[in-house]
Amino acid sequence: MRRDHRKKPSGVGIKGIGAYVPEAFLTNSDLERMVDTSDQWITERTGIKKRHKANPEQATSDLAREAALKAIADAGIKPTDLDIIIVGTATPDMFFPSTACLVQKEIGATKAAAFDISAACSGFLYGLSIAEDFVRAGKYENILVVGAETLTRILDWSDRTTCVLFGDGAGAAVVGRVGDGHGIISTFLGSDGSMGDLLKLPAGGSRMPATEETVRKRLHYVKMEGNKLFKAAVKAMVNAATKVLDDSGYRSQDLDLLVTHQANIRIIDATAKRIDISDEKVYRNVHEYGNTSAASIPIALAEAKQKGMLRDGMLVELVAFGGGLTWASVLMVW
Ligand SMILES: CC(C)(COP(=O)(O)OP(=O)(O)OC[C@H]1O[C@@H](n2cnc3c(N)ncnc32)[C@H](O)[C@@H]1OP(=O)(O)O)[C@@H](O)C(=O)NCCC(=O)NCCS
Repeated sequence: MRRDHRKKPSGVGIKGIGAYVPEAFLTNSDLERMVDTSDQWITERTGIKKRHKANPEQATSDLAREAALKAIADAGIKPTDLDIIIVGTATPDMFFPSTACLVQKEIGATKAAAFDISAACSGFLYGLSIAEDFVRAGKYENILVVGAETLTRILDWSDRTTCVLFGDGAGAAVVGRVGDGHGIISTFLGSDGSMGDLLKLPAGGSRMPATEETVRKRLHYVKMEGNKLFKAAVKAMVNAATKVLDDSGYRSQDLDLLVTHQANIRIIDATAKRIDISDEKVYRNVHEYGNTSAASIPIALAEAKQKGMLRDGMLVELVAFGGGLTWASVLMVW
């Protein structure tokens, strides 16, 4: 008899998933009227066609709350069943209280401890990995992991190299026991702080507190070296994607669905090509939302589930990359 050397799922995984994006959006033609750009340039270089934008009264925790309530309903639990809330975000409502604490209040999760994690676009997968370990350790049952962003608030709307790329949104998952044969098989987290300057928001922290000068110099907006970041992104995503597969004894051809961070269609395509996975197994929705940072993977998962592309028993891989630099991957049986 042939022994199966493949690693088994832990029995801990995603019990419920939900997403929310604000109604308002900007198309590429809208942006043509704001900066020197074109629908053709944006479409060819990024794949993005539109991006959603929070209303002036909406902050990150408001988007997070909507996604959280959907994930909780999908899991068939109540907010008071939550033990922990983890929010991955680069655009918190404020320094403190944490966005997770604001969500805890908003949804009435009175039993839950709450904290944010800062891993930029990799935030949701960092949170998912932490949540799996917490549940596996036996102390907690239900953990809400949210990726939520209002990136349009930190974009320089006069900088065409960044303002066309990002959008607002939130996605959430309830992590808990999902039964034998299901759940997370392997996770991998990584970072390289030496490349942190490629994507950052320079001012407003303790290094460069807000002054009239920092505002005048537009230092409270996203600064990015797109070209270098592009190369680093493909390399990190390919390595992360390969790592959890190798660690678990699987090949990319075994996957039923690959959901990567949605930053740029060319990064997604290059990653998929290099790990050699067939095209129809790769989820893409960057054209619809732009880069929603930590929210992109849970939004994609919720959407894939709704479309019937994410079904019971599927082998699914999630791969993220973001500022920091950070990267992460998760292999699971849905
Ligand atoms: C940003 C990005 C789309 C730019 O594409 P690119 O092919 O690398 O293009 P370049 O940066 O080399 O710029 C090419 C030219 O287009 C111009 N350009 C930049 N943004 C433009 C825009 N919105 N519209 C029109 N032209 C633009 C540049 O000024 C440059 O002009 P030049 O050659 O006259 O100097 C791409 O680098 C990218 O996606 N990087 C990764 C970004 C990312 O994913 N960040 C988040 C990580 S989580």
